[in-house]
Amino acid sequence: MNLRLDSFEAYQEAYQKSANDPSEFWNGIASQFQWMKPHHQTQSGSLEGGDVQWFVGGQVNITENALDRHLAERGNQTAIVWEPNDPDHPIQSISYQTLYERVCEMGAALRASGVQKGDRVILYMPMTPELAISVLACARIGAIHSVIFAGFSAQALADRIQDAGASVVITANEGRRGVKTIPLKSTVDHALASCSTVRLVLVQRVTAADCVMESNRDVWLNEFEQRGKGLPCPPEPMDAEDPLFILYTSGSTGKPKGVVHTHGGYMVYTAYSFANVFQYEPGDVYWCTADIGWITGHSYIVYGPLLNGATTVMFEGIPTHPGPDRFWAICAKHRVNQFYTAPTAIRALMAHGEDPVRAHNLSSLKVLGTVGEPINEEAWHWYRDVVGQQKCPIVDTWWQTETGGIMLSGLGALSPQKPAHAGLPLPGIDPVLLSADGTELTGADQEGLLCIRSPWPSIIRTTYGDHERCLNTYFRPFPGFYFTGDGARRDANGLIRVIGRVDDVINVSGHRFGTAEIESAINQATVALESAVVGYDHPIKGQAIHAFVISDRSLDEVEMEAARKDVLAAVERGIGKIAKPERIQFVPGLPKTRSGKIMRRILRKIASGEFDQFGDTSTLLDPSVVDAIKTQAQSTWFVPS
Ligand code: WTA
Repeated sequence: MNLRLDSFEAYQEAYQKSANDPSEFWNGIASQFQWMKPHHQTQSGSLEGGDVQWFVGGQVNITENALDRHLAERGNQTAIVWEPNDPDHPIQSISYQTLYERVCEMGAALRASGVQKGDRVILYMPMTPELAISVLACARIGAIHSVIFAGFSAQALADRIQDAGASVVITANEGRRGVKTIPLKSTVDHALASCSTVRLVLVQRVTAADCVMESNRDVWLNEFEQRGKGLPCPPEPMDAEDPLFILYTSGSTGKPKGVVHTHGGYMVYTAYSFANVFQYEPGDVYWCTADIGWITGHSYIVYGPLLNGATTVMFEGIPTHPGPDRFWAICAKHRVNQFYTAPTAIRALMAHGEDPVRAHNLSSLKVLGTVGEPINEEAWHWYRDVVGQQKCPIVDTWWQTETGGIMLSGLGALSPQKPAHAGLPLPGIDPVLLSADGTELTGADQEGLLCIRSPWPSIIRTTYGDHERCLNTYFRPFPGFYFTGDGARRDANGLIRVIGRVDDVINVSGHRFGTAEIESAINQATVALESAVVGYDHPIKGQAIHAFVISDRSLDEVEMEAARKDVLAAVERGIGKIAKPERIQFVPGLPKTRSGKIMRRILRKIASGEFDQFGDTSTLLDPSVVDAIKTQAQSTWFVPS
């Protein structure tokens, strides 16, 4: 298989080909994979109908392409290098042969326990090799995996388990993050009190800590895996359009939705984009620092790299443990060639200065990637100059859980570089900017709503259990286009800069949260009658959350401190620590229109310290609350120094 374009001209040619004849273009790429049965139609359905399908009639199993296909040529090559939280603990290097065997064992054990094609399996795990193995074992037997980031609360976990109707949960007794341990199994127990569908819980022993094991339900993962030893585990034949996984992500309204991806299209697109964006060459060591709980980890720690026969690094810990040079120490230790992280991590490490970077030999680095949020120019330059020593291209990769793979990005060193610009689209991707009324903006430097005009193989297929919601969110706002929810600009050379969300999604440290979701968690605090949250610019996190809360009584200073803690605890219970508001402001009222709609525009301005020009406030029910909120905010967070 060779998916990699090796010059800018080759990229331009591929792009042209993909535009002229998308079917032929994607057929050429799909034909490099191993199919159990070829497709009879490359693509059916349309963006207009929100019913896009790819490689229709084809049968395939993504794990056969990620594992079996490599055994003859690179069975002994390392597939996964696992770097533990504690740098003094031993690393694990898992060859393609061993990974294949362990996935087959685990898959066979799951099959033997009654898990069938189409069943949903929840993975709530730390970043251990067993997480990757479990993901692949599910895919192998056609079970639909749904990885829930291990920082989510019991309530958030329960919501997702219920929505997915899962029968199995795989977890660990505890996770390790820096000096902390995270009590995963007890969180699962808590969640399962309200989930009747789960009949089996597999528990990896990560730390020495005890945990409660329920005899009819809970099994230690290592013992469970043994049950599959020696059993055959042929890959389940999957229709190209059969679901591979559900991944929950936040939107502007309601609870997080389960984004569904498939075996066929997702496989083709993640493999193709990985090979090209990172310009991965055989023998390279690639490291993506994301957690497999997010789409970046799915597509670019597990599937994309393994489909390409790459060596992929998996890191259990955090960037600052035991010191702020940990990332660079790992890059040097494993001679990492492609490094992929988030702007928030770059900014946090930048704050520690250049010494931690200079302390390590980073000469192996060839390509540096970023993902998850806009990267500011200062961080971009630091990444390029200090980490990359000016010899590595930066690939600023724009994409989403819903797009499955990278959509806009440079391809290694092939493409033009411009700070804070994701740049050009990948072959097969047709981005457009629309005005609010749906007019296409074609001029240079115009800002518009980023939409995609033609289908690509890894486009979201549905939101699990609620296709209407999928249509309403992505396909109906601008008929004939996929709507991203992001705003962007394009310069005279066609390079695109993604500015950020235009909807009620807040991106905190590269993690997506819906305002509605946070507000409903806050409203569970006894002190909170009502709330509204907005995002504001934060030097490290990109955006942080400012919560405006109406309390059930007037609060003095001391009571206010306690009330703040209540609100934080409610967010921690409802979602998890990762969604905690940076600021909590108790307000006498919220700026509502006569029809009861909160004017977030005004709250966003206040949270950003912009206290004049609120625009038209004449439709507000009680304009005086704006002054009250403004005065409070000003005196608390914007006191001139
Ligand atoms: C934002 C993460 C600017 C964007 C892969 C998008 C970015 C949301 C970039 C998706 C980037 C992601 N530049 N913004 N390079 N990458 N975003 O689903 O707002 O967790 O809509 O997927 O992150 O977040 P998600």
